[in-house]
Amino acid sequence: MRIALLADIHGNLPALQAVMEQIRTLEVDRMVFLGDYSFGLPFVNETISLIRSVPHAVAVRGNGEDRLLWLAGQERSGWTDGQMRAAYWTVRHLSRETFGLLASLPATACLGEGPVPVYAAHTLLQMTGVDEPLGGGTPPALPDGIPVGVYAFGHTHRSWHAHREKTILVNPGSVGLPMDGNPEAAYAILDERGDTWQVERHRVPYDVESVIAAVRTSSQHAAAPVWTALAIRELKTARNHVYPFLAWAEKYARQIGDPRRPFAPDTWEAAYHAWDFDASFYLYR
Ligand SMILES: [Fe+2]
Repeated sequence: MRIALLADIHGNLPALQAVMEQIRTLEVDRMVFLGDYSFGLPFVNETISLIRSVPHAVAVRGNGEDRLLWLAGQERSGWTDGQMRAAYWTVRHLSRETFGLLASLPATACLGEGPVPVYAAHTLLQMTGVDEPLGGGTPPALPDGIPVGVYAFGHTHRSWHAHREKTILVNPGSVGLPMDGNPEAAYAILDERGDTWQVERHRVPYDVESVIAAVRTSSQHAAAPVWTALAIRELKTARNHVYPFLAWAEKYARQIGDPRRPFAPDTWEAAYHAWDFDASFYLYR
């Protein structure tokens, strides 16, 4: 049995297409999607349609899906801030069919035919009670009593794997927005070998510049230019820019004495224009 693991696509359809094209050449039996399909870049409905076309795919829900499903149930008349505009845009542009599909996804899944089952969720925390270090570093020790298996998860957008005796932890990295310094799309393959699995981690180059050009002409960019500017920086550098910018926006709003949260449109945009991107980038890498 060979299983492809794909996580954190975040609406980056061209990256997903490039990964799926490579996977087609690698004799894979199942594809497992580990959440966060639907927020980030503008090609959300198309991304989910492509995932739906995969025969026998297994998919779990990420925190991005949870957030959008929650937001979809909220009163929209209060959606006047600048900070959340990309999320509002996404909720307005997801088709009803897509929302139905996202709501139907389980939080965890198990592919358990062999002696070492494969457990899947968006985060390691959901399956084991311990979290993956956000900034990389030593993988966590697992609590006693965790069943032997392969634990597959995404969420931190960093590709890594580690062995804990017969148990394997694997984060395939992010297809759509890698944050480990390598902008190429990331995924992994699990190859079953008797009573264990071999992990193959892959990177796929694709045309990031043409994705950026398409993002810039999208209606998401028109609706939420600061968010798409952040996403473009992340695509180019494969580093997280949202968290440093949020920290900076908080500092900026306090400096100008603006208590409105989520950040109002004028403060949100002014904070972006006043942001020393290079200083934040090096601080948070
Ligand atoms: Fe994510």
